[in-house]
Amino acid sequence: MDIRFDIIVDYMPLFLKGTLLTIGLALAGVTIGLIFGLLIGLGKMSSNPLIRFPFVWYINIFRGTPFLVQILLIHFGVVPLFMTPANPIVSAIIALSLNSAAYIAEIFRAGIQSIDKGQMEAARSLGMSHIQAMKLVILPQAVKRMIPPLGNEFIVLLKETSLAAIIAAPELMYWGRVAGGQYMRVWEPYLTAAAIYLVLTLSLTYLMDYIERRMKTE
Ligand code: ARG
Repeated sequence: MDIRFDIIVDYMPLFLKGTLLTIGLALAGVTIGLIFGLLIGLGKMSSNPLIRFPFVWYINIFRGTPFLVQILLIHFGVVPLFMTPANPIVSAIIALSLNSAAYIAEIFRAGIQSIDKGQMEAARSLGMSHIQAMKLVILPQAVKRMIPPLGNEFIVLLKETSLAAIIAAPELMYWGRVAGGQYMRVWEPYLTAAAIYLVLTLSLTYLMDYIERRMKTE
């Protein structure tokens, strides 16, 4: 296996440009996913089965079908309804956010429900309202438990952005495929892309470890 470094050098500016878009897609997906995920998680915790129903099925559908299928449906089916031609970056952000929201909703719900019922009862018996008890007693404990699975979700989502290459959003994997196609080579483009993804996910791992440690010592 001879590695042609000139290919890597040639394509480096495009790989780096793609990396910026990869980071942007992941950040946008996680941010919007967090907002929707919180709302969907709350909806799924409703005691009214009629309110619960749409949220339960939102999660079932987005977790139960491949992301590849979702991004294709959104780019070629949904986004063209309000945007022609459909912008692949917009489609990718929508698909990543909607998919991630389903997973984040479950992380929120599991985090809140993992706190013993006695905590809420104790807070209420001290005269706190339901909202106060949530804010002062339940959430501070629940948020700590949500950090590790949220970190996991960020890492998954970052790698999942690579599927945006299939709708021609010019992120990192897109340029990997272009380079591979132009030179008819496998190792140089894909190993370079893999190395860049690894740097990104390792940075995220360290960041999440740091946040986890900070929250423990409080
Ligand atoms: N690639 C897998 C799929 O197609 C995993 C998606 C996971 N998504 C996430 N936001 N955790 O379904």
